[in-house]
Amino acid sequence: MKEITLKSPLDMHLHLRDEEMLKLVTPLTTQTFAGAVIMPNLVPPVDTLEALVSYRERITAALGDDVFKPYMALFFRDYSEAELAAAKDEMIGIKLYPAGATTNSEAGVKALDAVEPTFKMMEEMGIPLMVHGETHGFVMDREKEFLASYEYLAKKFPKLQITMEHITTADAVDLMGKYENLRATVTLQHLIITLDDVAGGMLNPHLFCKPIAKRPEDREALLQAALDANPSLMFGSDSAPHPLSKKECCGCAAGVFTAPLALARLAQLFDKHDKLENLQDFVSGNAQRLYGITPLEKKVKLENTPFEVPSAYTGHGQHVVPMHAGETLDWSVTHIS
Ligand code: DOR
Ligand code: ZN
Repeated sequence: MKEITLKSPLDMHLHLRDEEMLKLVTPLTTQTFAGAVIMPNLVPPVDTLEALVSYRERITAALGDDVFKPYMALFFRDYSEAELAAAKDEMIGIKLYPAGATTNSEAGVKALDAVEPTFKMMEEMGIPLMVHGETHGFVMDREKEFLASYEYLAKKFPKLQITMEHITTADAVDLMGKYENLRATVTLQHLIITLDDVAGGMLNPHLFCKPIAKRPEDREALLQAALDANPSLMFGSDSAPHPLSKKECCGCAAGVFTAPLALARLAQLFDKHDKLENLQDFVSGNAQRLYGITPLEKKVKLENTPFEVPSAYTGHGQHVVPMHAGETLDWSVTHIS
């Protein structure tokens, strides 16, 4: 029997949605994670302090007695200095979406150079920037094409802490190491799948997300960086629940729902590669250092005993299919304290 006890695991990129979906999915993260960065792409987006505080209250109500801190993020727009000053202590950072790049991003940024005054203020005030780094180019090249923008921002604003969210390419792994102020999150699915798993055989809508999974060599580079607990890399699930009717349809929504199985599947993956000792830094230590946060105390014990992933999670009138639905994982969460 093998086991590992993780201290205060953190999910640095999470979608909890709102209303009934929020009520269903929030506990599926808050049971096992000590905290998570909550994405602000609601409709309308979370782009005022008032909206952020009220969203945090709805999350807090949904998590019950779980030991968990929601690290709130604002949706990027042109903010005034007064707005930033008022919101600074209530949030972990601001999330930038290029307009139209993904789910609920219509209100995003159309041109990066037009919003540089906000970047400058964020840099001066020590507010981190989180970025969905994709252009509107050919789907397999969108992240690669965006890397020049990351590099431009990293150089022009050297004190601005920039997180390249959910990286999917070997090129992004390389870039991450080049600038002290560039760091990244990576999802579970991008460590495991390639485009082949999404569309190489029968189409699998439950593995369709943005950025789309890339080539085997990209997955290899991401996996190596995660297994090594590369100090610039953090776990961010990008767990993004959509109702079954929005996934198994024509015009499938982007998003993979991994929250309930994320830690068990990560333990299985790190164990397979004999790197269990690096999982703590990947799921907590690196994020603590990079964001300067001290999470709530929580211990999550995992053992290599089977975990049957449900075919769906239901409740509050919702029905969501997770990654690995109906499959049996080799590892499971066995104790939380
Ligand atoms: O696949 C994705 N789903 N990528 C994103 O960037 C957004 C997310 C969502 O909100 O569903
Ligand atoms: Zn996301």
